[in-house]
Amino acid sequence: MTAKAAARGAGGAAIRVHDLNYTYPDGTAALEHVSFEIEKGESIALVGPNGAGKSTLLLHLNGILHSTRSRGAVEILGKPIDPKKVHEMPKKIGIVFQDPDDMLFMPLLADDVAFGPINLGIGKDEVKQRVKDSLLRVGLAGYENRVSHHLSGGEKKRAAIATVLSMDPEIIAMDEPTANLDPKSRAELIGILKSLKDEGKTLIIITHDVNAIPELADRVIVLKKTVIADGTTREVFADSEMLVAAGLDVPTIMQFFEVLQAFGYPCDVLPLSIDAAVKNLTQTIENEAGHVHLHIHKHTHTEVGAVRGKYQHHHTAADCPE
Ligand SMILES: Nc1ncnc2c1ncn2[C@@H]1O[C@H](COP(=O)(O)OP(=O)(O)O)[C@@H](O)[C@H]1O
Ligand SMILES: [Mg+2]
Repeated sequence: MTAKAAARGAGGAAIRVHDLNYTYPDGTAALEHVSFEIEKGESIALVGPNGAGKSTLLLHLNGILHSTRSRGAVEILGKPIDPKKVHEMPKKIGIVFQDPDDMLFMPLLADDVAFGPINLGIGKDEVKQRVKDSLLRVGLAGYENRVSHHLSGGEKKRAAIATVLSMDPEIIAMDEPTANLDPKSRAELIGILKSLKDEGKTLIIITHDVNAIPELADRVIVLKKTVIADGTTREVFADSEMLVAAGLDVPTIMQFFEVLQAFGYPCDVLPLSIDAAVKNLTQTIENEAGHVHLHIHKHTHTEVGAVRGKYQHHHTAADCPE
């Protein structure tokens, strides 16, 4: 094990991907030389621009996709995926697809959540208990007899997670779980992900929701066909050039504190979340005898401009000559 992995809290490798390559039958090279390791109990945000290969990678983690060229490139809980035993993978790793309609296909929600455990040959009473527990964990207690395709967008996303929880996998991978949700549903979903993290599940969360990443993930892997960055959330968010090149953002609160620095706010470590910002402000006010001193000097607006320019993805209308 590398020193870095050991420092992360040696639970053993949950996922090992070594030199994974994948080209779709039409010739699209989606993954090239992808390598990374995830320790048990780690929570990872997998980010990257559209078309970066994130969903393709997810489908390799439980053997839905594989290629002869990359045989043995993916190990889950210490074992390479056996293409003949793909049906057993959901016990180890649950994959929650981006579109819940791909996971909810039975008439009633209870049937969808029971589907996996029944396939594993689990007895009727135990299945019933697992359905009840899984629905409870995603805030859908008592939804057994609801018609899946009548659920709201947020309920469907949570129901899709329940269909995976009912198999009690050690690892859960989710494809854009907070996408297309209203703020309340998004907050509920983040709450569920946090509770899974706190329970010690190994999580891989594909997301463009950068403001949610600091609460959800210990580490960020940036994929663009291959792994272009892999580090702590802070390390990855500090590399603005790489992020802009990959078409990614940093949390808004972090950008705002960089702007505050231009106004003279003393801040060595930029906060990545609102909670961290509140702590930072409280500490600064205590250190400075009850006040925060901000000022404008002749370079302030140039510095603010530099901060904004650092994270700019495209020219605004004002930048474009007529
Ligand atoms: N079924 C498919 N057949 C051919 N190309 C595909 C297929 N699915 C995805 N791709 C291509 O593979 C690349 C990676 O796609 P995908 O894994 O969906 O990226 P992401 O999830 O990061 O947006 C893209 O260029 C995409 O167009
Ligand atoms: Mg995708």
